[in-house]
Amino acid sequence: MIDVNKIRADFPILSRKVNGQDLVYFDNAATSQTPNQVIEVIVDYYSRLNSNIHRGVHKLSQEATDAYETARIKIQKHFNAAEPYEIILTAGTTESINLIASGYTKFLNPKDELMISAMEHHSNIVPWQMLCEKTGAHLKVIPMKLDGTLNMEAFDKLLNSKTKLVFVNHVSNALGTVNPIKEIINKAHGYEALVLIDGAQACPHIKPDLQALDVDFYVTSAHKLCGPTGVGMLYGKAELLKELPPYQGGGEMIATVTFEKTTYADLPHKFEAGTPNISGGIAFGAALDYMNSIGFDTIAKYENELLTYCTDALKKIDGIKIYGEAPDKTAVISFNVGEIHPYDLGSILDQLGIAVRTGHHCAQPVMDFFEIPGTVRASFSFYNTFEEIDRFIAGIQKALLMLR
Ligand code: ALA
Repeated sequence: MIDVNKIRADFPILSRKVNGQDLVYFDNAATSQTPNQVIEVIVDYYSRLNSNIHRGVHKLSQEATDAYETARIKIQKHFNAAEPYEIILTAGTTESINLIASGYTKFLNPKDELMISAMEHHSNIVPWQMLCEKTGAHLKVIPMKLDGTLNMEAFDKLLNSKTKLVFVNHVSNALGTVNPIKEIINKAHGYEALVLIDGAQACPHIKPDLQALDVDFYVTSAHKLCGPTGVGMLYGKAELLKELPPYQGGGEMIATVTFEKTTYADLPHKFEAGTPNISGGIAFGAALDYMNSIGFDTIAKYENELLTYCTDALKKIDGIKIYGEAPDKTAVISFNVGEIHPYDLGSILDQLGIAVRTGHHCAQPVMDFFEIPGTVRASFSFYNTFEEIDRFIAGIQKALLMLR
């Protein structure tokens, strides 16, 4: 049972006013809010530890290095990766995907096929299009159905011995659909294709077991799960990461450098050129500690209650259309009301202190599929309340009186 008032007291931003009203923050799929337990770790880093890691003989550098590497181990354990060096700390999901896309340039040729799904975020579309342009490989798309689920029969037909890599999000950012990633991984492996799962929208709600999934690559961002922006994870199976070339050259990613030849550092440092986001990496670990102290089963159960409560209330509004009604969904609701433009509805809600996202949500093909320019998207976290949903519904009713 979640003690939501106790949890809300951990998040200073939740007590601020927006446009003179108590903030209702329903844009958690864009970024989550940050609890004191994570803010304090960042303040502590700059107050006590600030120094460069993996370099200094001095005490501060050693302590900062220990804190950073301890965070890597926390992340490894949370996701049940086999080894800490399979966790590469990146700037976030987008950089993680680009790192892999860049690495596969040398392994693909025009006979190969890559596969993505119709419900990807642009960050899991564009890097693969760029990879296809460079290599001549072909991009195939797993279609979706009207309820916002993937068409798995079509996936079965698209898979073949030319398929080399499959990229699918664990959860759709625009619709909240939880995709059947274990089935996708098993089927792709049947054709010796590798699978990358974009976990940016799943990890705030679900604790993936990467070894049980047998996934080849899994990526996510800390800022979606109560951590800071600018830091994220690339998990890769060690044997796959070892054969990939470095993404960026620079300090820290080398073993030796001469003007004739450079040799590269071992994992994970081969992929971590330059001074990283040190406080961010440490805070990523603290964010996982915080969420685990509440428990992912507890979080998922409560968020599902919020989702059901809000979906039921929205469905009573005349003219509402909800996009994405998969049986397995995270707490995301994308909708429109009649012909009202999502931006107009979102702007009035903002005046009432209610933060939602409007537009195409960086998933234009999803909007094209439904033949709409965009939606209003409300996305909940475990610190949201039923009372906030009541305010949201009342806010929509008020907006409709003005816009209709
Ligand atoms: N990918 C984030 C979202 O869905 C920014 O809003």
